[in-house]
Amino acid sequence: MQPHPFKKNLMLASVGAVLLFSLVFMTETFLLNRFPLISVLLGFICIVFIQFLVFHYLDLRSRELYEEINNGAAQSIAAQSLIPYINPDFPLPKMRNWASSPDLMTIYAQIIKNNAIKNIVECGGGVSSIIGAYLLEKKGGGHIYSLEHDAPFADESEANVAAHGKSHLVDILRAPIKNYTIKGKSWKWYDIAGIPKDIKIDLILVDGPPSILQKNARYPAVPLLLDQLSENAVVLVDDCIRDEDKASVEQWVKELDGFQSKWFYTDKGTYVVWRGKNPFA
Ligand SMILES: C[S@@+](CC[C@H](N)C(=O)[O-])C[C@H]1O[C@@H](n2cnc3c(N)ncnc32)[C@H](O)[C@@H]1O
Repeated sequence: MQPHPFKKNLMLASVGAVLLFSLVFMTETFLLNRFPLISVLLGFICIVFIQFLVFHYLDLRSRELYEEINNGAAQSIAAQSLIPYINPDFPLPKMRNWASSPDLMTIYAQIIKNNAIKNIVECGGGVSSIIGAYLLEKKGGGHIYSLEHDAPFADESEANVAAHGKSHLVDILRAPIKNYTIKGKSWKWYDIAGIPKDIKIDLILVDGPPSILQKNARYPAVPLLLDQLSENAVVLVDDCIRDEDKASVEQWVKELDGFQSKWFYTDKGTYVVWRGKNPFA
């Protein structure tokens, strides 16, 4: 198990403190008999400096914890508003961290409810595949094609969708990462061969592939699926607190005709991108 960042920082701070104290102790021992006034002054400066460092560290940590408590409460409220709405008949897999956060899923719900959404492509499956299936069913139907590059996670997602009795609404597509060329540049992205060619895609949820794959890892989503996008297509992009995911959205809006975007302050930062009808109008 990875050490918690706070414990890791505390360990580093402790090592630093021991080194600093040893240095101060040796310097003071050397100065005490020779220059007592300088020794006292140096001791005083050291105590003030160490106090400053400790208070600064505690201040930063308390701000981080305050933000996390606020965000945790916001996620809990979002989950409490979402779960009765979809009324699942089996517990949902856990949310947040690698999985979609409740506040992203409330935006997903709003878009699906208020727009003509039939076919959804998910880049990275998981709890969103189950929630999406409930949302589509509530509206009278539709289908989710969920691209998953990692076979064990594909099996896990498929089993979770089946546990909710929603396999008829979701295809978890085994989509290994392959090479593409977009505007003369080489990119890695999911194999999209499993998405039927005769459908129009109304909504893409961009929540993968992992960012370590390449710089601006999510950029290929729109250029590769552009020909299949419906007239009023909507693209929901998570993880945009990362500059490079934000950059991918900005690049689509700049390069492609008629696309607009709207920012949402969510757990991981969300952009909604669309063309045609404004999905929030
Ligand atoms: C950001 S996640 C996709 C989240 C998805 N939209 C959801 O709601 O759960 C991107 C990828 O994380 C990987 N993943 C799935 N399950 C995981 C797990 N239990 N732990 C770590 N990574 C996982 C999968 O490869 C998935 O495609």
